Order: sequence, then structure tokens, then C-alpha cells
Amino acid sequence: MKVSPSLLSADFGNLARDIQLVNDSKASMLHLDVMDGVFVPNISFGFPVIKHVQSLSTKPLDVHLMIVDPGKFVTQVRDCGATIMTVHQEACIHLDRVVQQIHDAGMQAGVAINPATPVAMLRDIVASLDLVLLMSVNPGFGGQKFIPGVLDKVAELKQLLAEKHSRAQIEIDGGVNAETGRLLAQAGAHIVVAGSYVFKAPDPQQAISLLSKL
Ligand code: DX5
Ligand code: ZN
Repeated sequence: MKVSPSLLSADFGNLARDIQLVNDSKASMLHLDVMDGVFVPNISFGFPVIKHVQSLSTKPLDVHLMIVDPGKFVTQVRDCGATIMTVHQEACIHLDRVVQQIHDAGMQAGVAINPATPVAMLRDIVASLDLVLLMSVNPGFGGQKFIPGVLDKVAELKQLLAEKHSRAQIEIDGGVNAETGRLLAQAGAHIVVAGSYVFKAPDPQQAISLLSKL
């Protein structure tokens, strides 16, 4: 499986060191969680930080926006050097337009759904997507417990993608560790986001490597 370590759980006092650690690991990309204190009950970091991260990272940036009205920031996310820009279905009134704007800006487009949002909400957009992110915790904080209902959603999403001839990759975010990662691999997920499991591990690179082999 592809692994996208979430920088949210890194040591913000030693960001350069932790980015280098990811550069030298088996990670496929680097996950950046942007929170606005409105869409989620927390605030993380914004564009100046992402730009700096980009200058140090050799991995593609996988930017997950947990903010209201993310369509307003497509150009800024692109200018930060993001490869994938993921927005929440729940945060976009005109989701189809936002996905088009992301593509027009030259990025890959991802759409995320919260644990209580059904996969069916993506029915009319999956054909245009590069990535679908299923939240396996309620967004806002790292270190939460995996909600197992997401495993059924992976199966449901796989069916929908086949039906709509979509080549979108399935990414899962929240509460991923060796055990839940194994279940996700069996269910058919392509990418796992892992924050605390990686950065709180005694050997983060080994934790990434273990997930990548699932
Ligand atoms: C939650 C974030 C996640 C989070 C994952 O709002 O979207 O990316 O950082 O962290 P862990 O792996 O600790 O659940
Ligand atoms: Zn995330």
C-alpha cells in the first residue's frame, strides 16, 4: 500500500528533520492537514508553512483541506507546490466546479467524506476524480480511534468506481496503524494516511516501511 505520513503529528519544532525523515523513507507522498477552526474544531497551519515544507520535501504533497469553501484557495494551494488537492464534499456547494478548478490549475483532484457521509454522495463526481479520501475518524485531530465502518465503505466505493469507470485511488485517513492498515489493505484501499502511528513510533521509517508492505 502507498503511505502518506501526516505531518500534523510531526515535531513542529523540528519540521526540517521530520521532513527529511520522510524523504528518506518508503512513503509515497507527504500528507498536509489544513484546518480552519470552522469546518473542524481545530486550527493547524496554512500556506506559508506548506510552501516551506514543499521546499524541503522530495515527496509529492498530498494536501487535505478541512476548511469551508476550499474553492477560494485553489491557486494558492497550487502555488504552494501541491500535487494532490483534496477538498471535503461537505464543504463545497459547487463540488463539480471546484474539481474542475483543481484540474485547470494542474493538480490532481481528491474529494474527502466524513464518517457520517455516505459513499453515494460521490456518485456523480467519481468519474472526474483522481482520489477519494474516506475519513476513518471525525476530522480535526490526530491520534483518534479508527472507526471500523469505513471498511464497508471501501468495498462500496470500489463498486462505485468500477461502475463509473473511475480510476480514482482510495485513500483512508485516521487511526491507521499496523492492525487497521492490514484490514484496509484487505478491503482494497490504495493509500493510507498515518500520523501518530508514524511520528510517535520509536522508528518512524520502520513504521512507514511496515505499512508500505501491507
Ligand atoms: C485528522 C487528519 C488526519 C490525522 C491522522 O483530522 O485528517 O490526517 O492527522 O492522524 P492519525 O494517524 O494520528 O489518526
Ligand atoms: Zn488528513
